[in-house]
Amino acid sequence: MTHPKSIVAGNWKMNGLSDSIAQLDALAGMLDKGVKADCDVLICPPFTLLSAFAMQTPTSVAIGAQDCHMNSSGAHTGDISAEMIKDTGASYVIIGHSERRADHGETNEIVSAKAKAAIHIGLKAIICVGETESQRDAGQTLSVVLSQVIDSIPSDASADDFIIAYEPVWAIGTGRTPTVQDVADVHAAIRKQLVDRFTEAGKGIAILYGGSVKPSNADELMSVENVNGALVGGASLKAEDFNGIIDAYRK
Ligand code: PGA
Repeated sequence: MTHPKSIVAGNWKMNGLSDSIAQLDALAGMLDKGVKADCDVLICPPFTLLSAFAMQTPTSVAIGAQDCHMNSSGAHTGDISAEMIKDTGASYVIIGHSERRADHGETNEIVSAKAKAAIHIGLKAIICVGETESQRDAGQTLSVVLSQVIDSIPSDASADDFIIAYEPVWAIGTGRTPTVQDVADVHAAIRKQLVDRFTEAGKGIAILYGGSVKPSNADELMSVENVNGALVGGASLKAEDFNGIIDAYRK
């Protein structure tokens, strides 16, 4: 049966200066302890560190960006194209994080166009979806998340071009997480959607959980069916904490 490769991804957001490379080195040292062969470890630093990280990264850690522009080049002051990201040596890009959706008005249509640009250049897109607290309270979690999944995946994408990260907006940076049953229900619904669209190959697409993942809850969250890894914010900034989450995937 097709089974997704797991990924533990760190999203550093707007954090990190040049001396933060020490955290990457420390993490690499900790990974020498061994991680299951079917689990990748990824760090997504801010753009200012992307090149340095991608150049110095040990083979045990993949490097990704946190956003890209939908166009390949041109008059877009301050923006970064997928090709520029690829050119640093990075291999992933997070697309449609809820902070981008909220702070920069990124709609599903924009997210899909960005994912298309990333995939076209050979980056793996991590497409983020997730409901707000008021949507959850209104019982709209599944309808919101599934319409984000349907509308954010580019129409010409193949199953190995992207992964999905389910991140309830209210769980990000708050220390709150959904119940294991809620996570299972949303991931099962996303899986069904992926299989409806990509048939057997849809079973091989990783679906990450994100939102207040930490060493103390990683085992429980990562053992939920259809959870194939984590997208980690705050707890990815320190190698020791991030390594504690990776422990869920130790040999
Ligand atoms: P958090 O962030 O782990 O700090 O909750 C997760 C994310 O936004 O990717």
